Amino acid sequence: MTVADMNLDLKDRTIILGVTGSIAAYKAADITSRLTEAGAKVFPVMTSSACRFIQPLTLQVLSRNPVASDMWKEGEGWQPGHIELADQADLLLVAPATAHCLALFAQGLAPDLLSSIHLATPASVMLAPAMNGKMLAHAATQANIETLRSRGYHFIAPQSGMLACGYEGDGKLAAVDTIVQSVKDFFANA
Ligand SMILES: Cc1cc2nc3c(=O)[nH]c(=O)nc-3n(C[C@H](O)[C@H](O)[C@H](O)COP(=O)(O)O)c2cc1C
Repeated sequence: MTVADMNLDLKDRTIILGVTGSIAAYKAADITSRLTEAGAKVFPVMTSSACRFIQPLTLQVLSRNPVASDMWKEGEGWQPGHIELADQADLLLVAPATAHCLALFAQGLAPDLLSSIHLATPASVMLAPAMNGKMLAHAATQANIETLRSRGYHFIAPQSGMLACGYEGDGKLAAVDTIVQSVKDFFANA
């Protein structure tokens, strides 16, 4: 395939990819790769829990951009560059999004870099939840999803299937294809 044949639907789109502490975090590598291949400038921001599941280096190499995770680390975290990034982003995509992340976003809390960027960015927000089915069904999680929906946030619905916790049910991260297509559709319709 030549560069001319490549599908660059996301050319020059700036996407902050939030990655949170789900077992599905490893799929963020594929998402980063696919969005980058489609022409997007992907800037990964990982929570500290996400860093327990996947190495920041993986997303750094695949996105060809630095990965931010620690708000307190000099030169990496809460610096003008990240405010600038929050300002310039066209989309904040969080995939996978934990129950904890949905709660922080719904409540407007900002204890870490990702949740702080969430409050600082004027970009649209797209969330791909992934969690145990009972966490997803919990009234608190459902209320948080409802709050975020009412603010116009986009959701990529989790699928039903075998979950990493051993249960079968809802809460499995949407397929990478679905997530990438949802991002493309978002920009096509923007
Ligand atoms: C092995 C393992 C898998 C986990 N998977 C999930 C998950 O898929 N979804 C979720 O909401 N929480 C999951 N958790 C719990 C989160 O990691 C925990 O709530 C954490 O505080 C989330 O932090 P973050 O939202 O800042 O990344 C998992 C925890 C462990 C130890």
